[in-house]
Amino acid sequence: MSSKNFVIVGGSKGIGLEITKRLSGLGHNVLVLSRTAEQLAGIERAAHQTFDATVDEIDRSALPESIDGLAYCPGSINLRSFRSLKPELFREDFELNVVGAIKCIQASLPALKKSPGSSIVLFSTVAVALGMHAHASIAASKGAVEGLARTLAAELAPHTRVNCIAPALTDTPLTERFFSDPEKAKSLGEMYPLQRTGTPQDLAAIAEFLLAGESTWITGQVLGVDGGMSGVKK
Ligand SMILES: NC(=O)c1ccc[n+]([C@@H]2O[C@H](COP(=O)([O-])OP(=O)(O)OC[C@H]3O[C@@H](n4cnc5c(N)ncnc54)[C@H](OP(=O)(O)O)[C@@H]3O)[C@@H](O)[C@H]2O)c1
Repeated sequence: MSSKNFVIVGGSKGIGLEITKRLSGLGHNVLVLSRTAEQLAGIERAAHQTFDATVDEIDRSALPESIDGLAYCPGSINLRSFRSLKPELFREDFELNVVGAIKCIQASLPALKKSPGSSIVLFSTVAVALGMHAHASIAASKGAVEGLARTLAAELAPHTRVNCIAPALTDTPLTERFFSDPEKAKSLGEMYPLQRTGTPQDLAAIAEFLLAGESTWITGQVLGVDGGMSGVKK
């Protein structure tokens, strides 16, 4: 198999780190853009560029000349009742989850276009498909991400596919507060039809499939990878 070029924004922790490991393990070149790089030590073929999606512009000259796949993994989880959510917090969530993704995709488009069949993967949340208490801000931003994914799938076809993964609760640095107490974590898992919360591997396997696997006839989709939460009544 020939080696391809992937850019994983937020590939230094959590689900993104697992995607980086998988693609690198398949022999591909991975450029990770994120604020920190400690956990990338020792991963072969993974290069790092320091980048804060809320502040920085992407240095296009540092991107590979052709990009086979781009994933945007940064996300937030500000859970508060609607009444206590200030408009500023909605703006912050939108900046990181939506505007950050837009900046990265726009900067990568020329290189994605140079690779026929290239693929973009974005991350939403189960809280878009299923109304959930205290999720107003993140659901609003991720709803925009899903709309963006479908629109770009139409605009960029046929040369680039665009899909979105919508996880439910997954054990990563973002959600560590939910997993610090094993008893509480176990009872959270019991709320799912499949009787457990997610692992970074559950999500990264699907991202790998969409970026580098036999998914070449899939675009404009939102895939719920959520233990059954969005579609099955327990
Ligand atoms: N985990 C869940 O339960 C869950 C549920 C629903 C949806 N999701 C979504 O799934 C995606 C991945 O989540 P995750 O749990 O893996 O998140 P995570 O553990 O917080 O990892 C996020 C990654 O993005 C990077 N990042 C964060 N802020 C950044 C910024 N401003 N600029 C550049 N990079 C930034 C982080 O690295 P640095 O800190 O080094 O920058 C890290 O590599 C997110 O979009 C999230 O909203 C997750």
